[in-house]
This record gives sequence, C-alpha cells and structure tokens, in this order.
Amino acid sequence: MALKDLITIHDLTSREVAKIFQTAGELKSDPRAFGNALSGCSVALIFEKPSLRTRVTFDLGATQMGASCVYLDHQGVRLGERESVKDMALNLERWVDVIVARTYSHETVIELAAHSAVPVINGLSEFSHPCQGLTDYFTLTEKVGPDLKGFSLAYVGDGNNTCHSLIFGAAKLGAHIRVGTPKGYEPAAEVVKLARREARRTGAKIEVVNDPFEAVDGVQAVYTDVWASMGFEAETERRREIFSSYRVTRKLMAAAARGAYFMHCLPAHRGDEVDAQVIDSSCAIVYDQAENRLHTQKAIMLLLVRANQEK
Ligand code: CP
Ligand code: NVA
Repeated sequence: MALKDLITIHDLTSREVAKIFQTAGELKSDPRAFGNALSGCSVALIFEKPSLRTRVTFDLGATQMGASCVYLDHQGVRLGERESVKDMALNLERWVDVIVARTYSHETVIELAAHSAVPVINGLSEFSHPCQGLTDYFTLTEKVGPDLKGFSLAYVGDGNNTCHSLIFGAAKLGAHIRVGTPKGYEPAAEVVKLARREARRTGAKIEVVNDPFEAVDGVQAVYTDVWASMGFEAETERRREIFSSYRVTRKLMAAAARGAYFMHCLPAHRGDEVDAQVIDSSCAIVYDQAENRLHTQKAIMLLLVRANQEK
C-alpha cells in the first residue's frame, strides 16, 4: 500500500482495494496464521460518537493479531478542546502504531492524519465511512464472486457518509450504483463528481435519482441506512416525514431483481428506514456485513502498519 492513511475510499487505488479484499479473505479463512502479525503494536481508538461494530471489531481485530488497544471516548479526549488535534496526533504517534478515529467533523480525521507519522483510519466521519463501504463490497464478492464490475446496487435514503463510501467504492470496482434520496438529501456533489471521473476508467455507473422505485428497479442489492445519522438526532421527527416513502418495504424489494440482497450498515430502525419483514428475512445479509467488519478492518490495519514500517 502506497497510502499512509485511510480517510476515504476515493484515496485508494483499485489495486489497493483488491489487496484489502484478498487480505481480508486470507484473514477470514485462517485467522491463526496472522496471530502475531501485529505483535508488539498498539492501536489508539478515538471515538467521539457511540459505536458497537466499529469499536468491537477494531479492538478484537487488533488483539487477534497480537496488538494492544487503548480506547479514548469523547469524555477522555474532547478532540480539539482540551488540546489541539495536532498536539493529540503528535503525542499519540510516539506511543501507538495506528490511530482509528470516529469523529463528527471530517476535517478532524484529516488533521489527525496530517500531523501523525502513523496511519490514521477513519472509523466514520460525517462525510465518509470507508471501513463500512469496503466491508460491504467485500461481502458482495463473497456472494457473487470476486469481480463486481457491472454489479448493480441501489442505495435508498439519506445521501450520507455511508452513501458516499458506497459511491466511491462502486467507482473503484466498476459497479453500478443508483442512489435514491428525497430532494435536498442527495449525496455531496463533490463525491458524485469524483466518482464519475473515476467511473470513466473502471466502467462504473453512478446515478442519483429522487424516486425510490426508480432507484431499485432491477438491481441486485438494495442498501439503506438510518435517516438521521449521529449528530442529526434533532432532525429525527422532521426526517421521518420527509423520508417515509423511502422505507425499504417488501413492495420496494419486489421492484429489485429476483433474489436481490438487502444490506444495511446497522444500527437499523425497523419501521423507519426498513421494515422488519425485509431486514429479518432471508434476503438480508446485514449480519454477514457486520461479521466482515472484523476481517476487513484487520486487513486495513495490517496493510497500513506494514507499509508504514517499511518506509
Ligand atoms: N456500522 C457501524 O459502523 O456500526 P457502529 O456505529 O455500531 O460502529
Ligand atoms: N450514517 C450513520 C452510520 C452509522 C454506522 C451515522 O453516521 O450515524
């Protein structure tokens, strides 16, 4: 990996994405073979927001490879309040080999990476959730085979961090993504522009529409995420009204291809963005996605730490 940090999927080359998938596959099939891969290393986990999957899988993943973790929650770090983000980076780099950060502001992750000599992994910012997007496409390779060129995915709901990462991932892999959001909740124009530029090389298709049925028409997988992301809780009620026709129901799933998968990064709110009849049915692969966070993130940590040690 030439890359020092993982801030967005857009920063990776298609070859690096393939390497992450290959390594994740190896880690998944023979975890013991990597039992000492990060022996003697330390990982700082900085979380400004709550987490189940990201926190548990980074912590366990690092431990399973022989590393130790230090967890810092919002109370413990108060990024940029008690001391500057730059000073935090300059302290942490003296003790740890990799920093995982879940932040409100995307700029905070960028700043940590800019000032730290050790790799910084974005564990979710308001702008992107790269570990999630990589895991989701890795999970799809397990379902349909290694080549996702032309694979069709619809993302329905809020054009948020998860959506951005799925768009960037599709662009790298040559997949086709159709995003369906209410007007005013589309993904950032900058993300769509960068992804479309990349798509010219990879054959990906990036479409943005406002009709949920148009979004899912004939696709092989339907993805949704919460309507009000962390940090937007005050808008929950308003968004519930705006997004109500974007709920993934059995009727919406019926407009996708026969046998289409249902995907969600979790946590899910049954009755809001997805009906229980969909997420609790056999078409859902949400717990496979959750499981694969472990393997994908182990691969990301391992590849970044190794690359940084070789410098
Ligand atoms: N999908 C995901 O990132 O879950 P957590 O917020 O629980 O980490
Ligand atoms: N978009 C959601 C993802 C949670 C994993 C959020 O940012 O809260």
